[in-house]
Amino acid sequence: MATTERPEGKGLGDRVYDMVFHSYFWRSIFRSGYPNTPRNQMLAVATNVFLHLHPTRIHRTHVRITHTFCLGGLSFFLFLGLTLTGVLLMFYYVPSVERAYQDMQILETDVRFGMLMRNLHRWMAHGMVLTVFMHMMRVFYTGAYKPPREFNWIVGVVLFVLTLLLSFTGYLLPWDELAFWAITVGTNMVGSAPLLGPPNRFVLIGGFDVGAAALIRFYTLHVIGLPLMAAIFMTVHFWRIRRDGGLARPL
Ligand code: HEM
Repeated sequence: MATTERPEGKGLGDRVYDMVFHSYFWRSIFRSGYPNTPRNQMLAVATNVFLHLHPTRIHRTHVRITHTFCLGGLSFFLFLGLTLTGVLLMFYYVPSVERAYQDMQILETDVRFGMLMRNLHRWMAHGMVLTVFMHMMRVFYTGAYKPPREFNWIVGVVLFVLTLLLSFTGYLLPWDELAFWAITVGTNMVGSAPLLGPPNRFVLIGGFDVGAAALIRFYTLHVIGLPLMAAIFMTVHFWRIRRDGGLARPL
């Protein structure tokens, strides 16, 4: 910690420096300071996730499956499975009002393993919402959201929202009655929020009603925007677990 210290007798610049780099917020993100002392250099090497994928030490409780139920790992596994099956589905699906529903039918009837891929994608999506939610509950009930893991909890909340948004945007893509009305109801709920509701709804569906513009927007968000953001936040999430000294000890 000593590395961010500055000599006494402080001017404005030093006080601003202290306010930023010694703040609770900064220290919750950057723990060991700049590695210019032997202690910080050792910490930087020992906690580096790329140099040591597994932590150098773990508590004996963490070996038991009942501590985590591997729910975070399962969520990640489902995310990878969804990416793989999603890319395969993209070979056969065109996000246009004329093609989308028909493509889904062809996928179910004509494409070899098409039905399997679609159902795998669908069930893994349901599964991921469930495992992410249960993972969040596990973290809460083991008190693992408390300092020093508060920053990772926030990253987790973002991941939870992204997971729900991925599910929601995927819902429209089959372009059947269920999809159309579900997204109409969902985006109307957005529109009913005070002040920013209507403009947000307009931006989300690219018009006043769910139509061709909404389909292409949801598709782009579903296959590029949201998965990319989720992958970035997951990378930060995993890196943080190591930075925070591995999993939380039992209460
Ligand atoms: C896509 C979603 C997510 C993935 C892939 C994921 C992945 C993981 C993994 C693999 C772990 C290691 C331990 C374990 O498996 O339980 C973990 C730990 C953790 N996760 Fe997540 N997570 C996700 C969402 C969340 C959410 C929604 C929260 C909370 C709002 C959260 C907060 C945490 C915290 C605080 C830890 C450290 C737990 C401890 O020290 O015991 N994560 N996460």
